[in-house]
Amino acid sequence: MPASATGIGDRPKKRTFLDRHQILERNVSLLAVFAFLVVTIGGIVQIAPLFWLENTIEDVEGMRPYTPLELAGRDIYVREGCYVCHSQMVRPMRDEVERYGHYSLAAESQYDHPFQWGSKRTGPDLARVGGRYSDDWHVDHLRDPQSVVPESVMPKYGFLERRLIDGRYITDTMKVHGWVGVPYTDEMMENARADFLAQADPDSDYDGLLERYGDTVNVRNFDGQPGVSEADALIAYMQMLGTLVDFSTFIPDESR
Ligand code: HEC
Repeated sequence: MPASATGIGDRPKKRTFLDRHQILERNVSLLAVFAFLVVTIGGIVQIAPLFWLENTIEDVEGMRPYTPLELAGRDIYVREGCYVCHSQMVRPMRDEVERYGHYSLAAESQYDHPFQWGSKRTGPDLARVGGRYSDDWHVDHLRDPQSVVPESVMPKYGFLERRLIDGRYITDTMKVHGWVGVPYTDEMMENARADFLAQADPDSDYDGLLERYGDTVNVRNFDGQPGVSEADALIAYMQMLGTLVDFSTFIPDESR
């Protein structure tokens, strides 16, 4: 009988890397421990450097936190799912830049929580829609998009102008944005509700609003009707989009 059939006299086989790996694959607990270690190391390598970087976003002149009314408008934009059909991100490609304007900067979304870049364009990009149309155009377009763009597939949002809002929760909303890093000052929070109402009422005393957020804030009766409506907030938000950075003087920091 050949010796190998009984196993007697065979030299013990050296354990290869694969053999050892099989031990790991067959023992679920051991596999979990090693998987955890590997993910931890990978995570630390990616995340730790961020703690030592002063800033991951280049500061750009003109960027400011949203006014209370714009912030409320932004919440309505999110609630209505406008982002499902509209992106807010002009890519640095010629066709986009010629159609929409200067490509989007990271800083332009720095106060967006969550960001509104979007991933699908059923309608046009809105990152630079501010100032492109009049307030009246927006009112007509929200009420009945097909009345201004006959082939539009955008739904009607006429109910927004009938829903009045009074900003009673806006201070809390701003507080939450403060927690995630938006630099709202105590003064901004204390005056949030007054600023909210003032921005939609050009007859009010809105000097404080401009002092806190800058002279370029639009103060208008956006929907043309008495009272502050959801349409006022949404249009105030849209008319600000893409207008905060002055691209006639902007010079990108090439050193990064
Ligand atoms: C079902 C997809 C869809 C949804 C949801 C949608 N839109 Fe639109 N939107 C479109 C399409 C398509 C157009 C292009 C035709 C037109 O102007 O109506 C458009 C155009 C626009 C324009 C004009 C942009 C330009 O540069 O001409 C604005 C502003 C706009 N939408 C705002 C909104 C807002 C605000 C919301 C949420 C309240 C919204 N849209 C929800 C599809 C959508």
